[in-house]
Amino acid sequence: MSATSERYTSVAITLHWLIALAIVGMILGGWYMGDLPDGAPGQYFLYQMHKSIGITILLLTVARIIWRVMNPPPPLPEDMNALEKTGSHLVHLGFYGLMIAMPLTGWLYSSVSVKLDVPTVLYGAISWPDVPFVGGLKTEAASGVVNFIHSKLAWVAIGLLVLHVAGALKHEFSAEDGVLKRMIPGLFGKVDKPQAPGRGALTAFGSSLAILVIVAGASPLLGALSGSGQAVSADAAFEPNWTVDKAASSITFSGIHDGNTFSGTFGNWDAAIQFDPTSPAKAEARVTVATGSAEASQKLYTDSLKSPEWFNTAAFPSASVEILNISETGDGQYLSTARLTLKDATVDTDFPFSLQLEGTTARMTGQAVFQRTPLDLGQASDPSADWVSEDVTVDVVVVAARTD
Ligand code: HEM
Repeated sequence: MSATSERYTSVAITLHWLIALAIVGMILGGWYMGDLPDGAPGQYFLYQMHKSIGITILLLTVARIIWRVMNPPPPLPEDMNALEKTGSHLVHLGFYGLMIAMPLTGWLYSSVSVKLDVPTVLYGAISWPDVPFVGGLKTEAASGVVNFIHSKLAWVAIGLLVLHVAGALKHEFSAEDGVLKRMIPGLFGKVDKPQAPGRGALTAFGSSLAILVIVAGASPLLGALSGSGQAVSADAAFEPNWTVDKAASSITFSGIHDGNTFSGTFGNWDAAIQFDPTSPAKAEARVTVATGSAEASQKLYTDSLKSPEWFNTAAFPSASVEILNISETGDGQYLSTARLTLKDATVDTDFPFSLQLEGTTARMTGQAVFQRTPLDLGQASDPSADWVSEDVTVDVVVVAARTD
């Protein structure tokens, strides 16, 4: 065995095959998910997985490049001619460029796409922000160009793969020195160990972990700056005669997403109630809700709700509801109108509720169903309710004590 045939380090071998498999899977998966009709079951999940694995490839590529700089690969066989050596270097260089460019264009596309204006949550657990300062590219034309580049890079990858595999096989099975076996752990016969033991794992993987922590850490920071969860107060001009017991009360919402029921609650809201059971027609309630305090059953939904096409919490930190036109329909049963103002839209919907009175304490339970189109919710990414149901149900439980 000549001195040129040492194996790559085991870290390099692992990263090589892991990233190679992931890229092939991402290309096939990318084509598959893009061809699904809008709203196909599981499509939403596939997009999130595509983004999660793509960002993982980016982070592993950072580790791989640092590892390569610290652990130079074994030299190419001496009997390769100069043209082949240059070709081989160019293909490798192309792959490194691609391993960076594919995830970056994907990330940029999902940040500026008008159609896919959905946040990225890696593996359903880690909020990954959009590329900062690219809001200006959020147009059909610009996002179309980025999508075009991202999708055509798949063909560049396939071209490079053909050259790469052809080169590796030629130099494995020709009279020249075996090349493929240097990248395969322990198969196809013997090959020398790496010249030196690997070093710098902490630097390589620590750097990519640091990028993950810094970028993902920026996400809640941006959320905090956009005013989520800020305190709200009810209209001061309104004189309530009930005090709400917040701990015993709740405002929850629910709907269907991708075939599954989702639900959530608003953690921060306030209600001012003026209500005398003997004259319900004169009664009124005003509720103010901090839009950024919406907490859904999945992190992805919580993040989505804050985004511009849903609650747009940065521009509209609160929403308000007025309960009007209250009339008694039966014993302890009432019908009213809920007038919801959210972002720039105001809509009226029926709000039937029941009331249990015990001394000076009341327990009210009611339900209203809102349509999201008139409220301008999710109209960029899902105007035809392919993923998220048009109807969103809001359940309200209020326990309050009379003060007058
Ligand atoms: C090495 C990593 C990646 C590879 C190989 C890859 C590959 C692909 C491929 C082949 C497609 C289908 C394009 C077509 O329809 O012709 C696609 C679509 C897409 N990719 Fe990636 N991708 C990668 C990383 C990413 C990342 C990191 C993100 C976002 C964070 C992303 C977001 C998207 C989106 C949103 C689409 C859908 C485009 C559409 O249907 O409109 N990709 N990707």
